[in-house]
Amino acid sequence: MITISIRRYHAEREPSQIVQEWEVEEGATLLEALTAIKSAKDPTLTFRSGCRSSVCGSCAVRVNGKEVLACAYKPKDGDLVEPLRFAPVLKDLVVDQRGAFATLGRAKAWLERLDEEAVVGPAEEKRTERQSDCILCHSCYSACPVYENDPLFLGPFALTRDWRYVADPREADPKGKIDAIQHKGVWDCTLCGECTAVCPQGIDPKSDILMLRTRSTQMGYSDPNMAAFGSFGLDF
Ligand code: SF4
Ligand code: SF4
Ligand code: FES
Repeated sequence: MITISIRRYHAEREPSQIVQEWEVEEGATLLEALTAIKSAKDPTLTFRSGCRSSVCGSCAVRVNGKEVLACAYKPKDGDLVEPLRFAPVLKDLVVDQRGAFATLGRAKAWLERLDEEAVVGPAEEKRTERQSDCILCHSCYSACPVYENDPLFLGPFALTRDWRYVADPREADPKGKIDAIQHKGVWDCTLCGECTAVCPQGIDPKSDILMLRTRSTQMGYSDPNMAAFGSFGLDF
């Protein structure tokens, strides 16, 4: 047996937040461990799950400060399990993901198809297929340090999906999508790569954001931070 700690939250309890230790079977997945605690020790323990096979993205949590899928991760002795960051905790390990989903709308992260059939080359097909592997787990959103200071940042989840459509030859309005990500978007990323490091699907939001920056430049935009830096010292 090993011991894991779980940060629990209940809005109507005092204190509302506690860390509880549990003994669980070694070698089981975290989701199996959580299920065993819920069925044998504490039926009030609340967490999300679905497919149990890394497909639906619903079981994402943080372990020792890193985002993981509970159905894929095998806990070690002393692990601390917490809910994802930057989303209101509803109960225990369940967060309200509506804010993360709302970033998709702000980034216009959907395909506006051309009426005529577009020619899609193998390279584009491969790229858009890879990005559609996103399982909406929000691990990248939780890992992004920009949210510590700016809750309005569009973030890796929306921007990586936006690149999928901007790069798609069937997209009817790539400029509209590029316009939508200039404010609190493509230039606000620090390129730290935390999003890429935690993605269970091997998607690379950091690279996609770099591609969006290049496309933005081609469409006449420039990095507002560089513009501010460039004028420094010219006030004489
Ligand atoms: S690379 Fe950009 S989007 Fe990704 S975690 Fe870092 S700041 Fe956030
Ligand atoms: S890009 Fe990766 S980490 Fe982000 S929501 Fe999709 S699957 Fe999860
Ligand atoms: S339960 Fe579906 S990804 Fe873990």
